[in-house]
Amino acid sequence: MANKYQAPPTSVVCTNLLLLLVLLPLFASPSPLSQLSRGSSLSVEDAADTFLVSQDNSFSCGFYKVGSNAYAFSVWFSSSNGRTVAWTANRDRPVNGRRSRIAFRKDGSVVLADADDAVVWSTDTGPSPSADRLRLRDTGNLVVEDRDGEILWQSFDTPTDTLLPTQPITKNVRLVSSVSEGAAASGYYSFYFDSDNVLRLIYDGPDISSIYWPNPDYTVYQNGRTNYNSSRYGVLDDEGQFLASDRLAFSASDTGPGTRRRLTLDYDGNLRLYSLTHDGHWLVTWVALPKLCDVHGLCGRNGICVYTPRTRCSCPPGYEMANASDWNEGCRRKTDMGCGGDDHPRRVKFLRLPDTDFWGFDLNYTPSVSFKRCGNLCRGDCSCEAFTYRTGTGNCYTKSALFNGKSSSSTNSNVYLKVLRQAEVANVSQAYKPVCNATENEPGVGSPAVRYRARFNWSYLYWFVSAFFLVEVLFISVGWWFMFRKGKKPTAVEEGYMMISSQFKKFTYRELEKATENFRHELGRGGSGAVYKGVLDDERVVAVKRLVDVTQGEEEFWAEVSVIGKINHMNLVRMWGFCSQRSHRLLVSEYVENGSLDKILFDGNAAASAPLGWKERFKIAVGVAKGLFYLHHECLEWVIHCDVKPENILLDRDFEPKIADFGLAKLLKRGGGAGPEYLSRIRGTRGYIAPEWALNLPITGKVDVYSYGVVLLEMVRGSRVSNWATDWVDTEEVEMVMGKLCLALKEKLAEKEDESWVRNLVDSRLNGQFDLEQATLIVEIAVACLEEERSRRPTMDSVVRMLLSYDYKSKELHEENLVCV
Ligand SMILES: *[C@@H]1O[C@H](CO)[C@@H](O)[C@H](O)[C@H]1NC(C)=O
Ligand SMILES: *[C@@H]1O[C@H](CO)[C@@H](O)[C@H](O)[C@H]1NC(C)=O
Ligand SMILES: *[C@@H]1O[C@H](CO)[C@@H](O)[C@H](O)[C@H]1NC(C)=O
Ligand SMILES: *[C@@H]1O[C@H](CO)[C@@H](O)[C@H](O)[C@H]1NC(C)=O
Repeated sequence: MANKYQAPPTSVVCTNLLLLLVLLPLFASPSPLSQLSRGSSLSVEDAADTFLVSQDNSFSCGFYKVGSNAYAFSVWFSSSNGRTVAWTANRDRPVNGRRSRIAFRKDGSVVLADADDAVVWSTDTGPSPSADRLRLRDTGNLVVEDRDGEILWQSFDTPTDTLLPTQPITKNVRLVSSVSEGAAASGYYSFYFDSDNVLRLIYDGPDISSIYWPNPDYTVYQNGRTNYNSSRYGVLDDEGQFLASDRLAFSASDTGPGTRRRLTLDYDGNLRLYSLTHDGHWLVTWVALPKLCDVHGLCGRNGICVYTPRTRCSCPPGYEMANASDWNEGCRRKTDMGCGGDDHPRRVKFLRLPDTDFWGFDLNYTPSVSFKRCGNLCRGDCSCEAFTYRTGTGNCYTKSALFNGKSSSSTNSNVYLKVLRQAEVANVSQAYKPVCNATENEPGVGSPAVRYRARFNWSYLYWFVSAFFLVEVLFISVGWWFMFRKGKKPTAVEEGYMMISSQFKKFTYRELEKATENFRHELGRGGSGAVYKGVLDDERVVAVKRLVDVTQGEEEFWAEVSVIGKINHMNLVRMWGFCSQRSHRLLVSEYVENGSLDKILFDGNAAASAPLGWKERFKIAVGVAKGLFYLHHECLEWVIHCDVKPENILLDRDFEPKIADFGLAKLLKRGGGAGPEYLSRIRGTRGYIAPEWALNLPITGKVDVYSYGVVLLEMVRGSRVSNWATDWVDTEEVEMVMGKLCLALKEKLAEKEDESWVRNLVDSRLNGQFDLEQATLIVEIAVACLEEERSRRPTMDSVVRMLLSYDYKSKELHEENLVCV
């Protein structure tokens, strides 16, 4: 299926370019030195691009162009595609592109002087008679040494936004993000030891300061940290494990020696651990905030962070971006409220922003009042911008300012925004859409088989997508969120909830034995173990999976499982806890009523009951895509499911799908291994596994895309591909069937005019009760997902977008939802 005359892959081009970049300076200017000795100096003209390299050639140092005639003196990784800067001397004071120089002065200090000889930066090591040379060590540490190799000054003491392995973060050191992607200048986010000895992330912007990690709604201990150890020391080791004195501990998903790593506070406020792959790409192997919208200050005042499904900022209805080129400045009202005056209360009404939350800036908190009264509290108060009301407890929060806004299906909170009575309301539906630019496609993705229709209109798509997310909220229970902020004592009920919401519990084996009545009710059995139904003491019904084949020690298991436990999405089975005692390894997760998709879809005995309807099938296709998208992109980038199949898709009462067993690929990983990209042994299930498993290629999220394609076809047809494919192709070899089938379907799709073959393809049990256009779309997507050449398969991101573009139903719901309160 792959085209034989393809252009060379971009990575080859990049490598060549890189080679050129490395070689050019060799001819154009003096070759890189291994050290700069006392008394010598180099100007920008001499030293751009590279002037020092480390002995093993993994780091380079020199002048790095940050503007049209502006340079920074930096250390970067030699072998990454694109320049990845690890340290910068003068990030906020770039120097002129002519006559600026770096000089090792006779007095022993190294200084960076601008064109006018003004000292922009210095090592402050002078006067020091013993200073001998400036050298770049293999760790990426730029040092001033004496003759014996003793360090007199080191760049490791003044990091910018990145920590390298063995470079500690200490009391006087903080990482500061850069202001935008690829820029040198300092931004507003910091990673630092707070005065109570805890490592935190803070947004320290022009308007507000706000700590957002670890979770500010919990105490230090609930967050798994401690504040009693005042040594304030944390370091990433060569194996990819980070350990700090406040008990912050995490490790790269590809733990092990021999990999280049960096811990970077990115411009978006998220702290990420990266590993450099052999082809020069950076792979995220750990991230502080799985959901980016939890970062504070991202969208400025009044701005709302939304997933559409890519993370972006938007303005609430009646607001517009304050500065079209800068989200830090947030949104402002289109029409002034004109506060004050006796008629103020009568001039305003409230608009519900479902599933939205603004963190902090409470004017007041009033418990147990009616919704109407809560509204009146805000209505009568000129400084109140909005309120949050919790049905059930009747707690009412009025807000003086709207910061740290986010909207997502797991927010569990509605905001009621004060708006003027007539004016803004008319424009509501168009206002609540993301203002940002179109999403960028992964280059090379998007199979020719998937035709975007000519009538396709991006702005409508965004509209639909944001509408879809708004709609989801209708089904989400009321927010508990505000209960847990500082200074409010939780009641007994809330404490119970907190135990649940602080995610995760370690169960004893005895507890689980009791809950499952000694493992009596088996729900199913798979390669990784058997699943039993159980009831916990608090009457939650759970599914308990008994893992076989886990060879990890308790601590490693705990580390892995707690990562999986943090994952929370409506299309993923929620994990409640685990048990790890002696040789027992069990996972406790949410129990999903309707069982797995294969039973409902394929079961011949269910002929008496109605087959799964088309609407449900489409819903399942969308839900599974969203779940996988979340695993691949929105949560931790490294979660690859590796075993997507109908058995692992569970359905709840409303046929909302929930993917089970994600993360198992990681738990069951054997031996040291070199990380998720290189899971060594074949996982997955025959008939659903992508060709690259057999070819021994690195495994990426695209294996899930492939399996998802198979599941899509099976949902259309209502039976296993391996069973029905023989009607379409003349082979029975499972491995051959998919390839041939795809070719056949592709040809049919290319014929365009006549779509009657799709009718023949769709499950006959539906008696023609389906949407032909949707069915064609699903087949198109499936065929694209099944491309043998994985770079031609779409990402889950584009799959979700394609599916949602057809979900016109959400339009009607959208209008219903944004009525005024
Ligand atoms: C405090 O943290 C340091 C650095 O991680 C560690 O070496 C030391 O043992 C800790 N002290 C206590 C009392 O736990
Ligand atoms: C908008 O933001 C950009 C970038 O921060 C800034 O240069 C510009 O001056 C701002 N414009 C206004 C009108 O404030
Ligand atoms: C509604 O939006 C349109 C176009 O965006 C604008 O021209 C109009 O003034 C707005 N109406 C109100 C009442 O804000
Ligand atoms: C959107 O992208 C286009 C081209 O990529 C650019 O010209 C435009 O300024 C961008 N708009 C915003 C609001 O960022």
